[in-house]
Amino acid sequence: MKHRALKVRRNDPCPCGSGLKYKKCCLNRETVADAAQNRDLYRQKYNIRLKEEKDIEGIRRAGQLALNTLDLVASRIAPGMTTDDINVIVHDFTIKNGATPAPLNYRGFPKSVCVSVNEVICHGIPGERVLKDGDIVNVDVTPILNGYYADTNKTFFVGTPGPDAQKIVTVAQRCLKEGMSAVRPGNRIGDIGWVIQTYAESQGCSVVREFVGHGVGFDFHEAPQVPHYGRQGEGILLIPGMVFTIEPMINLGKKDLNVQSDNWTAVTRDGSLSAQFEQTILVTETGFESLTPFDL
Ligand code: MF3
Ligand code: CO
Ligand code: CO
Repeated sequence: MKHRALKVRRNDPCPCGSGLKYKKCCLNRETVADAAQNRDLYRQKYNIRLKEEKDIEGIRRAGQLALNTLDLVASRIAPGMTTDDINVIVHDFTIKNGATPAPLNYRGFPKSVCVSVNEVICHGIPGERVLKDGDIVNVDVTPILNGYYADTNKTFFVGTPGPDAQKIVTVAQRCLKEGMSAVRPGNRIGDIGWVIQTYAESQGCSVVREFVGHGVGFDFHEAPQVPHYGRQGEGILLIPGMVFTIEPMINLGKKDLNVQSDNWTAVTRDGSLSAQFEQTILVTETGFESLTPFDL
C-alpha cells in the first residue's frame, strides 16, 4: 500500500488535542510563526509596516500626550462653550508639548481636532456650535510627536446626560473594550469587527460601516483597515508588531449616514445619537497593549 502523509484539514480537530478546530488552533500558530519570521511579507503582501521597540516607544509617548490632551479637554468641557474653544485648547496644548496636531491641513481638514456633537458621527469641524447641557461630544486627537502618530478619542457628557446619551456612550465604550479583547496573535482582523458588531446589535444599536480603524504610527492612516463589523476567522492574521486603531462609531438608531456639504461632517441619516471611543493598539506576543490606555 502506498504511504500517504496525513493531511490535517482546516476544520478537523487540532492534532495537538486542544479540542479546537485546527484552523482556530495550531494552523494559525504555525502561520503566525512564519509571518513573524518574515516581516517583509506583511509589507509586500498588505503594505503593513510592523513596528520595532523604538517605534513602539515613540508611539507610546505620542499616546501619552494624546491622553493628557483629552484629560485637559475633559476638565474644561461645560455648557456654553463652542466646539472651536475645544480646538483652541487642543491646538495650544499640542504645540506647547512640542508636537503637531495631525488633523490640521490633513487632506484639507481646517482645524486641529475633530469635535463631533450628538448626531455627528465623526469628523466634526470645530466652529461656532455651542455645547448645551445634555449633549454628548466626541473629541478625537492625533498628535505627531518626534515623527510618531497616536490616535485616540473619547465621547464626553456635557452637563447631565439623559437616558439616550447614557445608553449610546455606554454601548460605544463597551464596543471598544470588546474589540480590544479580540486582539491577539492568531486571531484575525475579522474577529475584532465580529465581537463589536455582535455586542452593538445585541443592544439594539448599529455599527457605522463607512469609517474604519486603521494602521497608525509612522503615518496618520496606514494599512490595514480595521472594520468594526465582520465575520469570525476572516481577514488578515494578527501578528506581533502590528499597530492599529480600533474606533467603533455606534449609532442609537440606524447605521446610515450623510456627509454634509463641507465634505467632512458625517451625521446619522435618522438624526439619532452617535458615540465613539478610540485607542491605538499594539499586537504583542501574548495579546495586546494599548499605546493610548484608558479605562473602559
Ligand atoms: N482621527 C480620525 C481617525 O480616527 C481621523 C480624522 S481625519 C481629519 O481616523 F482630517 F478629520 F482629522
Ligand atoms: Co483613527
Ligand atoms: Co482618531
